[in-house]
Amino acid sequence: MSVRIDGKQVAAEVIAKVKTATAALEADVRVRPGLAVIIVGDDPASHAYVSAKSKMAKECGITSIQHTLPEATTQDELASLVQTLNADSSIHGILVQLPLPKHLSSDPIIQSILPEKDVDGLHVVNAGRVATGDLDGGLVSCTPAGAMVFVRRIHGEDLSGLNAVVIGRSNLFGKPMSALLLAANATVTTAHSRTKDLPPVCRNADILVAAVGRPEMVKADWVKPGATVIDVGINRVPAPDKGEGKFRLVGDVAFAECEKVAGVITPVPGGVGPMTIAMLMANTVIATYRSAGRKTPRF
Ligand code: GUN
Repeated sequence: MSVRIDGKQVAAEVIAKVKTATAALEADVRVRPGLAVIIVGDDPASHAYVSAKSKMAKECGITSIQHTLPEATTQDELASLVQTLNADSSIHGILVQLPLPKHLSSDPIIQSILPEKDVDGLHVVNAGRVATGDLDGGLVSCTPAGAMVFVRRIHGEDLSGLNAVVIGRSNLFGKPMSALLLAANATVTTAHSRTKDLPPVCRNADILVAAVGRPEMVKADWVKPGATVIDVGINRVPAPDKGEGKFRLVGDVAFAECEKVAGVITPVPGGVGPMTIAMLMANTVIATYRSAGRKTPRF
């Protein structure tokens, strides 16, 4: 049986460091981190995520300002709000909740955020820094940054000699995750929907990271005995056993069977999920320290 990582516990430790760092900055230079969160439209899941981010920001001593825009918002209106926030010196982090409604193009909006305020780590400047192994100059995308906190706790800073397989190649997760593992000296394979014969590729992994959005796709015989398995998937599946029309959350990993083979495994929910918000807070604090010309804390 494997060790189960408690993401809530690890996230709480990151949050405690964020609170200390925020209080220290306020005491030293009277600056409070400011985070602007923009949400467009009525998607209930996005509203739930944004509320959780705003609530956590307040708890951390971060001034969180939520901009809730109607579904009918135009590209120009959204672009103009980003420009206003770029120019506002009390705002250190800007997050545009994705996905945007279909009539809006997210990429020009994301790329118009000042890289130093891009706490989501999605601007090409920040993605490029991660891709070139410059992890101290920019802002790292929150979910891969959170997954790396787990990896470091289990394997240390140096992953030399370890094989890592990331299933998924999104800009939000798969690509930066692969780059972070590579920067830590792992031998990295980025697998995806076009990869041939995925199970043996995964069986080669000492660190297996799944981010495909397919409920319980990774089976026990895909897992190398003793491997570290990190599940980034969050899928809502019908759960008739809980009652008619009820759902449950499952990851991309078939947890019950893989738990018997893995050395360490993250659950869903309660694994990587809580880390994403914690790392967003950490990025906001890092952005604020930099704007104040202070040496940034490490999370
Ligand atoms: N939607 C789902 N996850 C994320 C995220 O990490 N950042 C943003 N901006 N939108 C998201």
